[in-house]
Amino acid sequence: MRLSVIGCGYLGAVHAATMASIGHEVVGIDIDEDRVETLSRGEAPFYEPYLQDLLTAGIQSGRLIFSTDMAEASGAKAHFIAVGTPQQKDGTSADLTYVDAAVDGLLPCLRAGDVVAGKSTVPVGTATRLAPRVEAVGAALVWNPEFLREGWAVKDTIDPDRLVVGIRTGTDGVDGAAAVDVLREVYHPAVAKNTPFIVTDLATAELVKVAANAFLATKISFINAMAEIAEVTGADVTQLADAIGHDARIGRRFLGAGIGFGGGCLPKDIRAFSARAEELGRGESVAFLREVDAINLRRRDRAVDLVVDALGGSVFKKNVTVLGAAFKPYSDDIRDSPALDVAVRLHGLGAWVTVTDPAAIENAQRLHPQLNYVEDRDEALREADAIIMVTEWDEYRRELTPEHAASLARGRVAIDGRNGWDAAAWRAAGWTYYGMGRP
Ligand code: UDX
Repeated sequence: MRLSVIGCGYLGAVHAATMASIGHEVVGIDIDEDRVETLSRGEAPFYEPYLQDLLTAGIQSGRLIFSTDMAEASGAKAHFIAVGTPQQKDGTSADLTYVDAAVDGLLPCLRAGDVVAGKSTVPVGTATRLAPRVEAVGAALVWNPEFLREGWAVKDTIDPDRLVVGIRTGTDGVDGAAAVDVLREVYHPAVAKNTPFIVTDLATAELVKVAANAFLATKISFINAMAEIAEVTGADVTQLADAIGHDARIGRRFLGAGIGFGGGCLPKDIRAFSARAEELGRGESVAFLREVDAINLRRRDRAVDLVVDALGGSVFKKNVTVLGAAFKPYSDDIRDSPALDVAVRLHGLGAWVTVTDPAAIENAQRLHPQLNYVEDRDEALREADAIIMVTEWDEYRRELTPEHAASLARGRVAIDGRNGWDAAAWRAAGWTYYGMGRP
């Protein structure tokens, strides 16, 4: 099938490349000339496992092209809206400028029977507002939220846990069923595997996405709240998480206590959800999300306090090595990264901060040039008075032994911002070990 993907950021670039890999003819469209040029050369503009291979293969096969010209979308049967919905500069709502512009720009390219599928995360009600514009030219608007995780984006796009398609109901002249059939054809490998395929109304589909992210954020903040209680009682939150996680109703995943969540989705999505609920007169229904946000941000304070206390009350002119800058491993994304935030705060307190990360240094350096960046992990550890792991890359979590770290560092203070190290092993090697919510 011929497809267009409007917006070639994280979501769109991955979507375009994976759709080409499953046999479709895809044009990815973006207003950013540099990005289009990079993608057209078959280069991934960000770090995402397998993306580079899919881009190269797609472009070589001739099934994948990128362009800045919206007219290239003409002739495609399904058009995916994958532009960003960032947090507004002067508030917490989502900025829908790019979504509106994408839909308006697409209108002259649409033919009767085409399907426009929104993938961007939007406040509930957006699709219903946009639908009449699309329907006026005889096309259908559906909402098809995306649940991909960075670092797993290719796998999550080809083989998702579930597919959700919201269609307009109660309107004459719109063939929702036909639009759903088009999407079944688009996602043929997942459909062939009997992946749950849930058809809803537009509002439900929009809400599914924000509800899922709100739930995940709440789960993380719940365990981080337990970490706060553990800190004043001497309990160990990792054992607590293991124990409650064995209950299948609770589950162990996303009960990793530490410096909390960040990235381009969870923080902005819970804030936009709260703002939308307020607009709808139901602010109290999701008032807990403000607490979720507050707990999350407090964990960064806690990590900084641990370093300060461990170094005797001041980090001034102390060498602190920060392991990690990305908001999570297998990503070079530093958007709202708790890891980088901790590094910046330590720098602000007068520490000599050295940051290392296998993928995110370039991005981090652009945003925070005041920090000292070192590519090589061991080089970064040399002469450290304290080390803190804030992104649990394998290089830090599994491959760095306490003995090896001790052979490089000057001090013996290890702070485990992700509760990923074996506390006993670090202590046995002479380190003073501090976890998050661990004795
Ligand atoms: C998230 C959702 O998981 C995904 O479904 C949605 O489409 C986009 O937003 P992503 O932003 O890639 O994906 O990251 P995710 O893996 O969810 O992690 C988010 C943050 O939570 C990271 O900073 C991570 O370190 C943190 N986290 C995760 C924890 O602090 N503890 C955990 O137990 C799990």
